[in-house]
Amino acid sequence: MTSTAVVNQKGGVGKTELTTNIGGALAELGRRVLLVDLDPSGYLTDGLKVTPSDGFSLAEALTSSRRARVEPVRHSTTEQGGVLDVLPNTAAMLTVARELDKLRGREQRLTRVLAPLAGDYDDVLIDCPPTLDVVTDNALAWAERVLIPVQAEDTTLKALQLLLAQIAAVDEFLRDERLVLHGMVVSMLRRPASVYARSVLDDLAKLAAQADLPILGTVPLSVVVSEARRHGRTVVDYAPNSHHATVYRALAKTFPEIR
Ligand SMILES: Nc1ncnc2c1ncn2[C@@H]1O[C@H](COP(=O)(O)OP(=O)(O)OP(=O)(O)O)[C@@H](O)[C@H]1O
Ligand SMILES: [Mg+2]
Repeated sequence: MTSTAVVNQKGGVGKTELTTNIGGALAELGRRVLLVDLDPSGYLTDGLKVTPSDGFSLAEALTSSRRARVEPVRHSTTEQGGVLDVLPNTAAMLTVARELDKLRGREQRLTRVLAPLAGDYDDVLIDCPPTLDVVTDNALAWAERVLIPVQAEDTTLKALQLLLAQIAAVDEFLRDERLVLHGMVVSMLRRPASVYARSVLDDLAKLAAQADLPILGTVPLSVVVSEARRHGRTVVDYAPNSHHATVYRALAKTFPEIR
């Protein structure tokens, strides 16, 4: 099984769309995919129009002393035999970070929640909130790799430095094996790219080489992403012949275990 945290504490850089649409592309390859919505804003849950089941919620599971299974919700299945499931988010998630701070094992709570589910899936992707808090630490403590969406803007470089420092701290204190820096995806790039964007991308390429964090691809800005979301579908399913479907499929193919 592969496990990936889609992370960047900078808000609105395309984490949720990337998680959703790579998930769709992996399911199209016949993989059994679980998307975990760890962001209290619940944008991934809303985008895929899934309704949390009545049972134990993710927020309760993270803060409860009781071990109870959280049931993912099925979004769709694919002709190739893949499935796309979601561990949805509820409003209760808003207070989880504050509550976790008071609890024992606070960074390992997600690990405990996902352990009984991992056997059911080939790929688990976590959509992280735009914060470097204990909730994000839970994702970084559990996943084997990180995928980092970035925008071609100057603030990106500073944000990346902070994020890489946080990853180093998590490696040091919360993990046995270091997180794999799977790579960055340049998201929401306006086409044609401006001179400004191109110069930021040059700087990003330098940082990518230094930090051993490859740039895996580019997702242009396009209304097809918003349209798919509006219909509660992933891009590969909603617009299978679009350029964006090709982009997300190529990104899915960078995942381990996939040929
Ligand atoms: N390639 C794209 N083309 C057009 N719109 C996009 C694209 N990628 C993302 N968006 C839109 O931009 C907004 C921000 O994207 P998204 O929610 O994925 O970012 P995020 O990093 O998850 O944000 P947050 O930090 O708030 O969780 C959303 O409205 C989303 O639908
Ligand atoms: Mg998001």
